[in-house]
Amino acid sequence: KLPTHVTLVDVGPRDGLQNEKQAVSTEDKAQLVALLQAAGLKEIEVTSFVSPKWVPQMADNAAVMAAIARQPGVRYSVLTPNLKGFESALATRPDEIVVFAAASEAFSQKNINCSIAESIERFVPVVEAAHAAGIKVRGALSCAVGCPYEGDVSADQVERVVQLMKGIGVDHLGVADTIGVGTPRKVQAAMERALKHYPLVEVSGHFHDTYGQALANIYACLELGVHHFDTSVAGLGGCPYAKGATGNVASEDVVFMFNGLGIDTGIDLDRLVDAGAFISGVLGRPPVSRVARALLAK
Ligand code: HMG
Ligand code: MG
Repeated sequence: KLPTHVTLVDVGPRDGLQNEKQAVSTEDKAQLVALLQAAGLKEIEVTSFVSPKWVPQMADNAAVMAAIARQPGVRYSVLTPNLKGFESALATRPDEIVVFAAASEAFSQKNINCSIAESIERFVPVVEAAHAAGIKVRGALSCAVGCPYEGDVSADQVERVVQLMKGIGVDHLGVADTIGVGTPRKVQAAMERALKHYPLVEVSGHFHDTYGQALANIYACLELGVHHFDTSVAGLGGCPYAKGATGNVASEDVVFMFNGLGIDTGIDLDRLVDAGAFISGVLGRPPVSRVARALLAK
């Protein structure tokens, strides 16, 4: 039996925009957040406190956090790769922070310039400081099914890093298919390893749609009872350290599927399409979301 309701985290403002070459204004980023919450999103990944030399688009992180009009009942999360990032983030009052590690060594080096073991060591003081401030910590596990540099990633590799995250007190584990190469059974195998160490309510799926498999992979997770997914409005996004990685699965496509399955998301699809149309207009191209294109053409 599938879950009856799901929680979606829209990562468009962060994962979606981080890869955009053209500068998006702070005002437009804040407007995107406003439109997402108006559509019913209860969790929004707003920005990341990473090095501006590495990801220039996120350089206005604190300004974006200051510019958003927070709505009660909505939770705002940000990425923090190290204590420096966490300290800057803390001043902006996030509800949740995200530390991010990889299941493959090569990706860890390219993305955060350190080994998996070093990344976990870096996260220790971040998790401690977050908990001391009453902030929940989500752990994103990149390359959980495949790596752009190493190829296939085994479920054993996934479980090893899941255990390291659990060991340092990370509250929630997000299984991420960074380059979208996962297929349903492979994704289930990775998810099952996360579920050996985390309860269902603290596991989520984060799927890039590079190979068009993301909806199938989400359905495969539903079969395991997983009911928490990261999605990106208009299908924006990609990781700057994963060449060719396209956007996360489009929020509109996911909501359309859940509506059809009778699974409650709390999201108004028409208003979500409006949010996607807004940011697509800013970027000067149509939304990647197939559902958005179909509805906008009506
Ligand atoms: P590093 O160069 O090894 O760091 O980068 P460092 O500690 O040696 O510091 C070098 C310089 O960066 C110093 O400045 C620091 O102050 C500064 P300088 O003295 O040269 O002027 N610095 C910072 N500045 C601002 N904020 C910070 C910060 N930390 C150091 N937090 C670092 C290490 C982790 C900082 C760097 O590699 C980095 O920023 N990486 C970010 C990469 C990134 O954002 N990737 C995309 C997000 S992850 C993702 O998209 C995957 C996900 O969606 C899941 C999935 O799909 O897989 C989550
Ligand atoms: Mg991602």
